[in-house]
Amino acid sequence: MDPAVRDDLIRMYGSRGWYHRLALRMKLRYWAVHEFLAHLPRKGTILDLGCGYGLMTNLLARSMGSEVQVVGVDLDTKRIETARTISGERGNLRFEAGDVRNLDISDCQGAILVDVLHHLSVKDQDRLLMDLGVKIGEGGILAVSEVDPEFRPRWHYWISYLSDLLLYPFSERCRFRPEREFRRAFEAAGFTVEKVERIPGSLVAPVIYICRRRTARSAGSHRP
Ligand SMILES: C[S@@+](CC[C@H](N)C(=O)[O-])C[C@H]1O[C@@H](n2cnc3c(N)ncnc32)[C@H](O)[C@@H]1O
Repeated sequence: MDPAVRDDLIRMYGSRGWYHRLALRMKLRYWAVHEFLAHLPRKGTILDLGCGYGLMTNLLARSMGSEVQVVGVDLDTKRIETARTISGERGNLRFEAGDVRNLDISDCQGAILVDVLHHLSVKDQDRLLMDLGVKIGEGGILAVSEVDPEFRPRWHYWISYLSDLLLYPFSERCRFRPEREFRRAFEAAGFTVEKVERIPGSLVAPVIYICRRRTARSAGSHRP
């Protein structure tokens, strides 16, 4: 990651309390280590779905250059307002309040879902992936980070589970899914899973999936 972008993010989020400092530490580390930026398209629209306070949205907008438009979407209007305040005016970045289950955006070249899918029912997760399979152009990228309930050693999973419980005490239960289920869901939605990475040395149990939207030609040769 460009050190100037990293410094920018630390300046923007580092002074905003423990939650933001923790998110910065965790997310910059595991997304930077695995260089997910290198997989994303360099032109067109990239969606950050369930963007929260816009940490990853800002990372994308600041790293990808002016030919990429980054759109952060979140259900929580307060988070969207805070994300707008933190980010200021930027030509290639905007935030929209909205439900990812009912996306008002017709097409894009890439999307990221960072620790969001487990907030949706399994049915809605699959529906959203199907929708993205239609909206993301052929060859486009979907990057997902999710906790794996079969992560080993198992205590990483329990830390993830407990931290979600503490952060979202009144929300519905988390729907974490194992890697093999996600692989099936991505493939069924028209994506090829190109890379799956477990993050070593992390307290929680994140797995990162890099998926590419199949082209019509490769779809013909796909065996489920
Ligand atoms: C754990 S936070 C992750 C935030 C952000 N992706 C990040 O990595 O910093 C999950 C976010 O998903 C949002 N969310 C949950 N359900 C959603 C939905 N149906 N539509 C849009 N956002 C949703 C929540 O409001 C919350 O901000």
